Amino acid sequence: MSLLEVRDVTRRFGGLTAVDAVSFDVHEGMIKAIIGPNGAGKTTLFNVLTSFDRPEEGTVRYDGVDITSWRAHHIVRRGIARTFQNTELFEEMSALENVMAGAHAVTRSGFLAAALRLPWTVREQREVAEESGRLLRLVGLGEWADAPAADMPHGLRRLLEIARALATKPRLLLLDEPAAGLNIAETSALAEALYRIRDRGSTIVVVEHDMGLVMEVSDEIVVLDRGCKIAEGPPRLIQKDPAVIAAYLGEEEADEL
Ligand SMILES: Nc1ncnc2c1ncn2[C@@H]1O[C@H](COP(=O)(O)OP(=O)(O)O)[C@@H](O)[C@H]1O
Ligand SMILES: [Mg+2]
Repeated sequence: MSLLEVRDVTRRFGGLTAVDAVSFDVHEGMIKAIIGPNGAGKTTLFNVLTSFDRPEEGTVRYDGVDITSWRAHHIVRRGIARTFQNTELFEEMSALENVMAGAHAVTRSGFLAAALRLPWTVREQREVAEESGRLLRLVGLGEWADAPAADMPHGLRRLLEIARALATKPRLLLLDEPAAGLNIAETSALAEALYRIRDRGSTIVVVEHDMGLVMEVSDEIVVLDRGCKIAEGPPRLIQKDPAVIAAYLGEEEADEL
């Protein structure tokens, strides 16, 4: 089944068409990647998919419902979660508390009531803490539960952000450049975490510049270049697609100038 249907999405900034009539489907249970050189329109498309931005044209349907003009907090309640390209954590709070804060975005008692320790929230608090601990272990951060977020290395902070997004129990998880700034060991820990998240039942859309990660984890890839979809398919076909190779080579040449 198609969980997300993206149809002819166009987003312009003045005279620039950042995303140009892009269409694709994301089927339930898969890891789908959106890749492309810098400036291809990945983040712009990501913001449209997560209701942080509106397209001039086109529609985004989630689970059969048109969510194109929904507000971001509504889609969270419908089971869509996202991370940001720049990590945003509660620095003073422990890793576990950061994940718990994510869960309170959707639990009945809410974050304020939890902070005030109202008696009727105690049981819910305990359940949230247990589930948050499970999520930390899922992304490989079991050892870091009590560490303040501020003390964690960059790569682990990105995993923590993913655990926090999972606390809303998303059916669909969208990640914007999760491998940015990660070393090789951290990137492979991330890949492991993505498999476990998918196997646990979430569908994943990952926007990523790093080809290595994408080729390893994705079931299917959409390639953008200058706002347009230039290819779509499984990694082994994308890897040898002449249009994709040309787009990335063009980027290297531009870097050398
Ligand atoms: N808010 C904005 N205002 C004007 N131009 C923007 C804005 N956001 C992105 N762009 C432009 O849209 C194009 C695509 O950007 P972006 O989606 O960030 O690409 P990517 O994430 O693939 O690097 C770029 O040319 C960028 O400069
Ligand atoms: Mg980007």
